[in-house]
Amino acid sequence: MCGIVGYIGNEEAVPVLLNGLKRLEYRGYDSAGIAVLGQAGLLVRKSKGALPSLEDKIASETGQGGLNAVMGIGHTRWATHGEPSDINSHPHTDVSGKIAVVHNGIIENHAKLKAWLEAHGVVFRSETDTEVVAHLIDFHYNGDLLQAVTEALKRLEGSYALGIICESDPDRIIAVRKESPLVVGAGQGENLIASDVPALLEHTRDVYYLADREIAVLYRDRVEFFNEDGQSLQKEKSHVDWDAEAAEKGGYEHFMLKEINEQPKALTDTLRARLKNEGGTSINLEEIGFDASWAEARRVVIAACGTAWHAGVIGKHAFEYFAQIPADAEIASEYRYRNPLSDPKDIFIIISQSGETADTLAAMRMARKAGARIIAITNVVGSTLAREADLVMYTWAGPEIAVASTKAFTTQLMCVYLIALQFGMLRGVIAKNELTSHIEALEQLSGHATRILSAQENIQRFASRQFNKTKVFFMGRLFDYAVSLESALKLKEVSYTHSEAFAAGELKHGPIALVDTSTLVVAICTQTALFDKMDSNIKEVKARGAAALVITYDGVDYFDKTADEVFRIPRTEDSLTPILSVIPCQLYAYYCAVQRGLDPDKPRNLAKSVTVE
Ligand code: F6R
Repeated sequence: MCGIVGYIGNEEAVPVLLNGLKRLEYRGYDSAGIAVLGQAGLLVRKSKGALPSLEDKIASETGQGGLNAVMGIGHTRWATHGEPSDINSHPHTDVSGKIAVVHNGIIENHAKLKAWLEAHGVVFRSETDTEVVAHLIDFHYNGDLLQAVTEALKRLEGSYALGIICESDPDRIIAVRKESPLVVGAGQGENLIASDVPALLEHTRDVYYLADREIAVLYRDRVEFFNEDGQSLQKEKSHVDWDAEAAEKGGYEHFMLKEINEQPKALTDTLRARLKNEGGTSINLEEIGFDASWAEARRVVIAACGTAWHAGVIGKHAFEYFAQIPADAEIASEYRYRNPLSDPKDIFIIISQSGETADTLAAMRMARKAGARIIAITNVVGSTLAREADLVMYTWAGPEIAVASTKAFTTQLMCVYLIALQFGMLRGVIAKNELTSHIEALEQLSGHATRILSAQENIQRFASRQFNKTKVFFMGRLFDYAVSLESALKLKEVSYTHSEAFAAGELKHGPIALVDTSTLVVAICTQTALFDKMDSNIKEVKARGAAALVITYDGVDYFDKTADEVFRIPRTEDSLTPILSVIPCQLYAYYCAVQRGLDPDKPRNLAKSVTVE
């Protein structure tokens, strides 16, 4: 996720900005840049890669790292629109180079705005959505930057945190946010903005938290606040007591917990990027090159590793269910050594958070050799997978720092559902009105996830009683079995508990021999037509002394008598439940790790990106 800093004060701005950006490095980034205002006017310096390459660029010019400026804005970019490159790095400027903008978020209507600005003669330099903001402010600029910003905001759709400076308005920084984080730091004779508190702590612990659409105007000696209509606001200052390390995690104890809690936003971002509203809401995959020809496929093959493969297993069900097309989910490390019978009419969907997993890339290259067309689902713009696939659908999860994948998984599922639904539409399996109701269900998932997260203490309490269990089995049927696979993996990875997933119907074919009084069975029960089957399976394990936790819908009392504990999730379509039912399981894994005194962010023996075989 991008990082923003801004400084106005009496110190040389460049080191302040670079230092602030360093404090935001944990957010992940692929390029960085600054814009400062000083005796030489507005100077912009940016560079692909890590901060040292930006530092070197500036130092090679000045010899000592300063540009004689006491105000400026800086940015670390996590690429979304356009590859990591010097040009796509922020800050972006208007045509004349007098207004500079840094941005975190997504301008959803950027394509329309770009076309409109181009019709007014604007020539764009980058592939980013952000550049439209600089040109838009310039379009409305009439000597008053604040007014130009409020006018520009009226045209922006999507999410944004923005830092803006202007050469002809040299004594202030304007900042505004909507659905992306931004804090204002109030210092002595200096004021700052940042995406997150760690970037401010060397200067001040007094902060203002901006609400959506609030505008802050920072001068050296004061900060003024306005609403989106330009009316003045009074805001309360807060004092930050966290140390720098806690601040990086946004107050959460671990990145894993932070990322679990970021899922509602990540889901909304991933979904919104792919919807269009033209005579009713529909799925917009044309923008990424998905046209009707893709739906002529003979079969869909999904290949991935680990958690991403679990997203593939759910994808297999989703393609069969929504699009009635044969689908397979392949473990990439197996697939690459088989002699698979693929056909040029197969479509491959390759899922990888990092886009760099060696086995996954090998499977993709095999599919390519067989003549298949390839869709990539990845979280990293410009990754090898993104570069080599025919078509890329990005998850909008933001960087995932904890080794165990959480928000990447649920956003992968969102992508898989969108593609499956679009396939269904193009193949005539889903009628327009059915699509509308599926999309509404997808739109509700983020709110449902928020509700689940608001009850996380229940899972924490449950984990504090059960964390010592030496055997934990997850079971379910259909979509719930796939979630069981992911839940067992999560628990293994971070708490080192021996956990397995079983298709509930398979229990009596062997695994039940393992069940005894030391076993916890988590039964995921969201496939309504199979409630009675699951109830029988739960009774079977209970009869052998196991404890049973059931995850099912609100309002379902079917399992109350059988289970020791029931955790409820909001009702949605049975085929969409994985995005919700996995959340309590992620939390359970997390809290078990914490109860066991382990660091869930860095499980032993595991790496975030597995780039070797
Ligand atoms: C589990 C986990 C791994 C990854 C796997 C694939 O929490 O993170 O199982 O899912 O290594 O990684 P990507 O998605 O980067 O290809």
